[in-house]
Amino acid sequence: MTKAPFSHALVTGASSGIGESIAHKLGKAGVGMVLVARRKDRLDAIAAKYPNVEVLAADLTTDAGLGAVLERLRDVTRPQIDLVVNNAGFGTSGQFVSADAERLSREISLNINALTRISHEAVRQMLPRGRGYLLNVSSIASFQPGPDLAVYSATKAFVTSLTEALHEELRGSGIRVTALCPGLTHTEFQSISNTTGLESKFPEFAWMSADDVARDGLRAVADGKAICVPGVVNKSLVSTSKLTPRALTRRIAGLVTRFR
Ligand SMILES: NC(=O)c1ccc[n+]([C@@H]2O[C@H](COP(=O)([O-])OP(=O)(O)OC[C@H]3O[C@@H](n4cnc5c(N)ncnc54)[C@H](OP(=O)(O)O)[C@@H]3O)[C@@H](O)[C@H]2O)c1
Repeated sequence: MTKAPFSHALVTGASSGIGESIAHKLGKAGVGMVLVARRKDRLDAIAAKYPNVEVLAADLTTDAGLGAVLERLRDVTRPQIDLVVNNAGFGTSGQFVSADAERLSREISLNINALTRISHEAVRQMLPRGRGYLLNVSSIASFQPGPDLAVYSATKAFVTSLTEALHEELRGSGIRVTALCPGLTHTEFQSISNTTGLESKFPEFAWMSADDVARDGLRAVADGKAICVPGVVNKSLVSTSKLTPRALTRRIAGLVTRFR
């Protein structure tokens, strides 16, 4: 990214994977940043490379962590945020019935609640200014149910739906809203969501790097696209699933995401 249309960004989940790549791209383009995640040491290491970077260590599944981010968005004494990237998220693989209930609550809290509240505050702040950018990281998992990744896919269906609705609601307001829907991307996601089995199940050409996903997402929100599905393989998967009857899509999804 050489010339960015944003001047100050807030990026959640900036300590690894797609969020970290987004932070480096913005930093290199001279965009000031507020970096959010739990691992402060990782955020400090990124912040040390670029000027105008604030580190906000926060667990977004807690009231205190989420509250600190909402407060920063409202803070008029600091640089105003004109790009918000809701990227923090995680998944849980395996049978729904066997999943740890507390973990599922945290997943819903992060993927849905935190993203919704941060989107809400971001839009409230941007609307009177008549400009701004909101990039919500969803997934190609949002386009069909995901057996053995049931809650994760459902949270991402929420993210894509909410983001598309906001894109339309805010048409003509000067605020651009985009859902970034990556497919398989090499990050820490696989070890955290216990989906490392996908690495042997799918050939390398089906995977993308976090850097390429970050580049496509930033371009899409700058261009005001409603949905960005990065990569040729992901684009064809999404197009095929749209053309296939729902019952068949569901069965195929079960074969693809089943880890047992
Ligand atoms: N990788 C894929 O194949 C893939 C595909 C489609 C969509 N996605 C989506 O892409 C987004 C980024 O994931 P990734 O692949 O880059 O995975 P990742 O490397 O695991 O990064 C996840 C980020 O979220 C942060 N995070 C996790 N829990 C948090 C919490 N409670 N509070 C604040 N931050 C938290 C993590 O930081 P800390 O641990 O330091 O808090 C980390 O920075 C997610 O929304 C994911 O669902 C990923």
